[in-house]
Amino acid sequence: MSANAIEVKGLRKSFGSHLVLDGIDLAVPTGSIFALLGPNGAGKTTLIHILSTLVAPDAGSVRVAGYEVVRDKNEVKRSISLTGQFAAVDEALTGIENLRMIGRLSGLTAAESRERADELLTHFQLTDASAKRVKTYSGGMRRRLDLAISLVVPRPVLFLDEPTTGLDTTSRLALWELIGQLKEQGITVFLTTQYLEEADQLADLIAVIADGHVVATGTAEQLKARVGGEVIDLHDAHGTLLRTVPTTGTIQDVRHTLTELSLQFAHETRVSIRKPSLDDVFLALTEKKLEGAVR
Ligand SMILES: Nc1ncnc2c1ncn2[C@@H]1O[C@H](COP(=O)(O)OP(=O)(O)OP(=O)(O)O)[C@@H](O)[C@H]1O
Ligand SMILES: [Mg+2]
Repeated sequence: MSANAIEVKGLRKSFGSHLVLDGIDLAVPTGSIFALLGPNGAGKTTLIHILSTLVAPDAGSVRVAGYEVVRDKNEVKRSISLTGQFAAVDEALTGIENLRMIGRLSGLTAAESRERADELLTHFQLTDASAKRVKTYSGGMRRRLDLAISLVVPRPVLFLDEPTTGLDTTSRLALWELIGQLKEQGITVFLTTQYLEEADQLADLIAVIADGHVVATGTAEQLKARVGGEVIDLHDAHGTLLRTVPTTGTIQDVRHTLTELSLQFAHETRVSIRKPSLDDVFLALTEKKLEGAVR
C-alpha cells in the first residue's frame, strides 16, 4: 500500500440543504492510528460512511487503501472493515454464532469460520460467553464482539466509530490495548471518539472537525502546544472548578493573569498551574473558533 492509507481532498457532503462537510482534507499514514474528534453532529459518522463507501461524496477525491471510493467501490470494500457507532450484531444469536455467520458471509468455509471464531473469542476473552445470546452481554462484551466481528477477515484498514462510548474505564482500557495490537499487526486504524483521553493515549495523529472544516491536525503534543504554555485552574474551597485560563507560561504572563483573577475571585480561591490537556485544545478549537486555524 502507498504511504497514506487514506487520502481525502476537498471532500464535500450535504444532506438536502444542510452542508455537513465543507471541504475536508486529510491524510492518514499507512500503519498508524488516526483519531477524528468533533462535537456531536460535526459529521464524524458521515465521514466514516463516505470512507467506507456507504455514503457517496458530493465532491472531492477520497482514496482508501490506494483506491478511489466512488470509482473503485468494490476494491475499497475488500480493503476495509468497519465497526459502526451502533452495533451490527444479531442479538438473538450467540457470540459464536455471530462470528461464524460473518465468516460464512465473508466467504470462509464452515471449518475456517469455526476456527476463526474460536481464535477471536479467545483473543477477545469471550470464550466463556460464546454460547450465550448477545442480548445478555454487557456493553464491554458487546463492543469486544463488535470488534471481533470486524476482524473475522483481517483487512488493511479498520474504521471504528466511537469504539468505547458507554464503556467503563476497565473495558475502555482493555479495548485500547486491543486496538494497539491491531496497529502492531500493521493495520491502519481510523477512529472517531468523544473521549479526548482516548485520542491522547492511542492516536499517532489527530484531526479536529467543526462546522464542516478540519480546524486542526497534528499529534496530541502539537495540538496541546497550540493552547499555550501553562493553564491556570481556579477552584473554590470545596474543590469545584471555577475557571480555566490559558497563559503563555512566562512568569510575566502568569503574574499578570493571577493579578487580574485576584480582583475577580474570593481570597480563599485555590490556584493550580498545569500543562494544557487535549480538552483545553478541543474547547478552544470548537467553542471559541480560533481565528487562523493551522491545517
Ligand atoms: N442520512 C442523513 N440524512 C440527513 N441528515 C443526515 C444524515 N446523516 C447525517 N445527517 C446529519 O448530518 C450531520 C452530521 O451527522 P453525523 O452523524 O455525521 O455527526 P457525528 O459527528 O457522527 O455526530 P455524533 O457525535 O453525535 O455521532 C447531523 O446534523 C445529522 O443530522
Ligand atoms: Mg457519529
